[in-house]
Amino acid sequence: MSEAAAEAAADGQAGPEISVIVPCYNEVGNVGPLVAALERALAGRRWEVIFVDDNSPDGTTEAVRALARENARVRGLCRVGRRGLSSAVIEGALSSSAQIVAVMDGDMQHDESRLGALVDAVRSGVCDVAVGSRHVEGGDNSGLANAWRHALSDGGIKLAQMLLPVKLGDPMSGFFALRQETFARIAPHLSGTGFKILVDLLLSSPHPLRVQEIACGFRARLAGESKLDALVMLQFVALLLDKLCRGWLPLRFVAFALVGLVGIGVNLLVMQCARALGFDFPVAQGIGTVVAMIINFQLDNNLTYRDRRLRGVRCVWGLLLFMLVCSVGALANVGVADMVYHQSREFNEASVAGAVVAVVWNYAMSSTIVWRR
Ligand code: GDD
Ligand code: MN
Repeated sequence: MSEAAAEAAADGQAGPEISVIVPCYNEVGNVGPLVAALERALAGRRWEVIFVDDNSPDGTTEAVRALARENARVRGLCRVGRRGLSSAVIEGALSSSAQIVAVMDGDMQHDESRLGALVDAVRSGVCDVAVGSRHVEGGDNSGLANAWRHALSDGGIKLAQMLLPVKLGDPMSGFFALRQETFARIAPHLSGTGFKILVDLLLSSPHPLRVQEIACGFRARLAGESKLDALVMLQFVALLLDKLCRGWLPLRFVAFALVGLVGIGVNLLVMQCARALGFDFPVAQGIGTVVAMIINFQLDNNLTYRDRRLRGVRCVWGLLLFMLVCSVGALANVGVADMVYHQSREFNEASVAGAVVAVVWNYAMSSTIVWRR
């Protein structure tokens, strides 16, 4: 230990023991009240808060900077060109030099008064991860906006439970604490997509983690609105599939294939409508195919390749390229299906073989020429 560090430690100036990691997107109205709430909840402890903002358009980073100028416990990370709750938490936790990291939302929905209990449970060694849980005795989930959100949360819990190595009442919680070294050890194995960083941690850890749930409430959001959308739901499904496949299927390929399934449904629906309007089958199928390609392109551009999203003229060129790639994929599909059918005389087998070749071709070409890095 350097002389300065020894001196600092001697007169109690050691660094923080706890880093509270707060992912933020458009939370300008919440960061101030959260810092004040943390001052009360963690009084007497050596703590810091690290806000990780994805260059919010509402001025969240500027608000954090202003708070940091007044308060040495406040730190801010501003990420440009990257989006995502989980990846923000990962970068925030890895930037911490504290013994314990606690993760919580930045909208005042998590009850900061429970942070001490989470930290003490980890520090005492009774568990590796302490989770603020809404679904244990004394927990409360009334802050979820509506019945749809409750249904979504319950569905997510059931899905996660199928894969989790430990039975948890609230695996969807974004409020938990663990040792920073534990987080750093697991970090290289994390998928880091979507919202559910706790599920990602529990499924990615190379060693089983002892988890303790501590009852906590979940209040109504103070300001702004939830960022949970269809993409986040898709990313959650893709996260579980990624963990199920032990990483040998790229997450993006899973998302691309899921979007492809949507395209098949659109194709069928539009073809049926065109047939009902009196078009012959080949024309109806052609209309269905073009509409499906356009919708798939939109979904891939906004979901699958969100980090490489095409805009303006590049989006138009991208659509034309995508349609060209998919047309070649459709020809390959028919060609391979025909070849397999002549050998196996099995329609289903031939059709699946053609579809697999087409989705691999479409994915490979889309990733290298349409949404190239
Ligand atoms: N940096 C960054 N980037 N932060 C984000 C992003 C993002 O793309 N999206 C959301 N956040 C931040 C929000 O600003 C907020 O501080 C926190 O992540 C939770 O986002 P919400 O939009 O408020 O999520 P919610 O209210 O639907 O809460 C659900 O997800 C949370 C996170 O897993 C619930 O399931 C909560 O229990 C859970 O904690
Ligand atoms: Mn919220």
